[in-house]
Amino acid sequence: METWKPLIDQSKKTNAFNEPNGKKLTHFHRWFWVPLLICGSLLYILSIHGEVYYRIPVPHTMIPDIPLPERKSGFLVDTPGCRIPDLDPFDPIVREFIKKEKQLNCNKNLPLVVNANLTSLFILKSSFDYLNITDEEELDCCYQPFWRSTEYKNNDMMDNKITFSKNCSSFKSDVRIEDEFVKVICKINNEVVYKNYYAFIPTKQKVEIRCEEAKQNISSRTKDRLSILVVGLDAVSRINFHRQMPKTEKILQKMDAIELLGYNKVADNTFPNLVPVLSGMSEKELQENCWPNGAYFDDCNWIWKNFSAAGYRTVFGEDAVWMGLFTYVKRGFKYQPTDYYIRPYIKAGEDDLGYKKDLNANLCVGSQLSITVLLRYISNFAQTMSGKESFGFFWGASLTHDFLNYPKLGDDIYEKFFSQLMFSGSLNRTLLIFMSDHGIRWGGIRETYQGRLEERLPFVFFNTRRLTTPYDLYSTLSDIIDLELLEQDSIRRRNKNLDKMKTKPRGISLFLPVHMSRTCEDAGIDKHWCTCQRSENLSKDDSIAINMSLILVEHINSLLEPYGVCSKLEFAELKSASIEFPLEHLSTKTKDRGIKDYVLIVRTTPGDAMFEATVRHYQGNNSVGVMGVVSRINTYGSQSACVSDYHMKLYCYCKSLLQLRTNL
Ligand SMILES: *[C@@H]1O[C@H](CO)[C@@H](O)[C@H](O)[C@H]1NC(C)=O
Ligand SMILES: *[C@@H]1O[C@H](CO)[C@@H](O)[C@H](O)[C@H]1NC(C)=O
Ligand SMILES: *[C@@H]1O[C@H](CO)[C@@H](O)[C@H](O)[C@H]1NC(C)=O
Ligand SMILES: *[C@@H]1O[C@H](CO)[C@@H](O)[C@H](O)[C@H]1NC(C)=O
Ligand SMILES: *[C@@H]1O[C@H](CO)[C@@H](O)[C@H](O)[C@H]1NC(C)=O
Ligand SMILES: *[C@@H]1O[C@H](CO)[C@@H](O)[C@H](O)[C@H]1NC(C)=O
Ligand SMILES: *[C@@H]1O[C@H](CO)[C@@H](O)[C@H](O)[C@H]1NC(C)=O
Ligand SMILES: *[C@@H]1O[C@H](CO)[C@@H](O)[C@H](O)[C@H]1NC(C)=O
Ligand SMILES: *[C@@H]1O[C@H](CO)[C@@H](O)[C@H](O)[C@H]1NC(C)=O
Repeated sequence: METWKPLIDQSKKTNAFNEPNGKKLTHFHRWFWVPLLICGSLLYILSIHGEVYYRIPVPHTMIPDIPLPERKSGFLVDTPGCRIPDLDPFDPIVREFIKKEKQLNCNKNLPLVVNANLTSLFILKSSFDYLNITDEEELDCCYQPFWRSTEYKNNDMMDNKITFSKNCSSFKSDVRIEDEFVKVICKINNEVVYKNYYAFIPTKQKVEIRCEEAKQNISSRTKDRLSILVVGLDAVSRINFHRQMPKTEKILQKMDAIELLGYNKVADNTFPNLVPVLSGMSEKELQENCWPNGAYFDDCNWIWKNFSAAGYRTVFGEDAVWMGLFTYVKRGFKYQPTDYYIRPYIKAGEDDLGYKKDLNANLCVGSQLSITVLLRYISNFAQTMSGKESFGFFWGASLTHDFLNYPKLGDDIYEKFFSQLMFSGSLNRTLLIFMSDHGIRWGGIRETYQGRLEERLPFVFFNTRRLTTPYDLYSTLSDIIDLELLEQDSIRRRNKNLDKMKTKPRGISLFLPVHMSRTCEDAGIDKHWCTCQRSENLSKDDSIAINMSLILVEHINSLLEPYGVCSKLEFAELKSASIEFPLEHLSTKTKDRGIKDYVLIVRTTPGDAMFEATVRHYQGNNSVGVMGVVSRINTYGSQSACVSDYHMKLYCYCKSLLQLRTNL
């Protein structure tokens, strides 16, 4: 969890990637990717709060030619277009807000009386003791199908209308269910002792016919397509994910998930950050395009429509439906938007059996956590669809929407959920994206600089150390619709085209390299949400910059100290200096005043070495440290012939040369 290691360790690790002239040996990095893609032929994204992990089984012909992450410590993103500092999840300034919450208990001592598997309902004999019965004959259970209403009138909020069948069909022990959603009621002596809601994933003939037809039109080369499963977890920053969900992180690592470090939200709350993922548009563009005031969302080109047309089964699902993505102070959809749409199921359950509302969301439904109900459906869906192409987008908000420390309460649940999915093989041909939309938007932590950055930095993969956004996710998902776009030739061609473009597109598929020069403006991130630092050039005689340079030289000397053959270096000249600091709206009114980074190029004697490094000033406690590796940016030739340690060759000026010189 340390943000940076002592500099010596870092330099040992990373100097191997630096040539003396400062150019990065990117080939080395490339090798790092090849085994990942060929052996596993898997790649995952995990995104939280904009953080995404995914896993893609990629045929190795599709290996994109990716420039690899720079490995400078102290920064998540360090490109000419953007620098985002890497902050410590357990920094003292935020530690006071991190605490352990009491385990949530939805039991109320009510055991489950009826359970379900993928196809059937069955009565649990284990509940008989509790019910004071000895025989299932005494128990009278029936199931009542229900569905999203189709009767439309008066601009109704159709997403809230549910129709229940008049029929409640009795069953004993177990019964196979053909319906999608059912309510179960059990009585003893005509008194209701149990009720609950269940969802199934029946095959839908119309959908299968559409998918079959669409498949006829696909070229044979891409018949072997990937499913997509997006599992969203509301309001968890990348850092908070690492802080709170270490077990889930571990299982994702096991899945070779790749994390996007510079995923920056583009707007305030959930809706404007997910609209870009699902439509490629900003909220404003959506309004202009297909969603005039007060309208339904049906006319917009949601990406699931493209998947649907390409022969995918589609599903959208969320919990805490009263504050749903499309329905919270919005009209929702007139017609069911996706082939499978679990809103009626979740709504019926939450309205009837929801409780434990600590702030906005009912944490429990009956004897289960609301989030567990959703995850269980996702598992069933993935399992049912494992041999077919499907596009699934799920959003879990109940657990994490309101409290910074509640993700921890979901760590075991998500760990189990992901490991089960992985071991069942349900994800064999699925691109899994685990993501969030933003970090926590309220509470004490928001009053720190770190809290403000976290709010803006959710997570995703590939060009892991580039500035990325929800728009890029949309472009990435779009690539999956037509896998030909991901073949090697195609990637090369697209790469070249992208390279040539003067104005780069706002959204860039993460299968392509995101350019180094990308700024928040290029990426469609409002200034207010931009976490890149601001940069200003300093003059060469700036006294603070010179002081920082002296600290840098002192630091290099401390690295050289164990090597008696190397002479001590002295500061000769500041060649250039710039300062990087937080944007005002991120740093004013915070308890700490954030950090200032001095990027310095310094000449030292003897030997006229030129070094480039970043010296960080923590304004809170007024301490200063050199970040990561010090780069040598001119050649050292034979100056360091007296040391064999490759890393030290960058810094050492051999004393023997000095003697040679004085002897001459
Ligand atoms: C579901 O339960 C029913 C009844 O107990 C059983 O017959 C069926 O095989 C089960 N199906 C699966 C997929 O486990
Ligand atoms: C079962 O019987 C016990 C003791 O008679 C009683 O306290 C309890 O309420 C009964 N439970 C139910 C579910 O009726
Ligand atoms: C009610 O259920 C019975 C038995 O499952 C079925 O035969 C009948 O068609 C149903 N009636 C309606 C109106 O759904
Ligand atoms: C298949 O392609 C033909 C010709 O492009 C088109 O007319 C037809 O609608 C497509 N069918 C499906 C199911 O997409
Ligand atoms: C998933 O892949 C594994 C390993 O290749 C294989 O053993 C398993 O049968 C697959 N499962 C499914 C459901 O496709
Ligand atoms: C999705 O379909 C719409 C409407 O046909 C089209 O305008 C859009 O370009 C498609 N998007 C992708 C990513 O294919
Ligand atoms: C700083 O100086 C460099 C080169 O000296 C120049 O390219 C860059 O635009 C300057 N940046 C600012 C913010 O003035
Ligand atoms: C630079 O360092 C010297 C000595 O440590 C100190 O006296 C001086 O105030 C510093 N200058 C600035 C601008 O911080
Ligand atoms: C100063 O504060 C930073 C961040 O809060 C911390 O990482 C660092 O260790 C502190 N330095 C000292 C000398 O206390």
